[in-house]
Amino acid sequence: MIKKYFVALPMFAIGYMAQAQTAAIPSDISALLTKHTCVTCHKVDKKAIGPAWSEVASKKYSKKQFAALVKTPVPANWPGFMPMAPLPQVPVKDLNKISDWVKTLVN
Ligand code: HEC
Repeated sequence: MIKKYFVALPMFAIGYMAQAQTAAIPSDISALLTKHTCVTCHKVDKKAIGPAWSEVASKKYSKKQFAALVKTPVPANWPGFMPMAPLPQVPVKDLNKISDWVKTLVN
């Protein structure tokens, strides 16, 4: 009886941690995504108004391309989505941080 708990508990903890890891966004990145409203339209691994960050990651953009696409979106890259509104006011240094993080999401 007791033995069962010893087995079940660590399994639960590992499962929970693995799940938390896929959904977790580092706090500094999360702050930037909120500040610049990206969070409204982009989720980590679910399609929302915009493509999931993991889908964007699969495009393997350079930092320069990433920043350029936020300032001047190219809706033709994402058929089936509404066009993203240009966000020219977002500082490139913030976009570089977001871009570096997005790259870590490639499966
Ligand atoms: C109002 C909703 C909305 C907001 C806010 C938004 N996006 Fe998007 N984003 C979209 C949509 C829709 C697409 C797909 C269509 C397109 O690219 O025009 C997209 C596409 C993208 C792409 C892919 C570009 C490409 O051509 O492959 C990147 C990168 C991106 N967004 C980054 C960002 C970042 C960074 C922010 C915050 C600074 C942000 N987005 C804010 C809706 C949004």
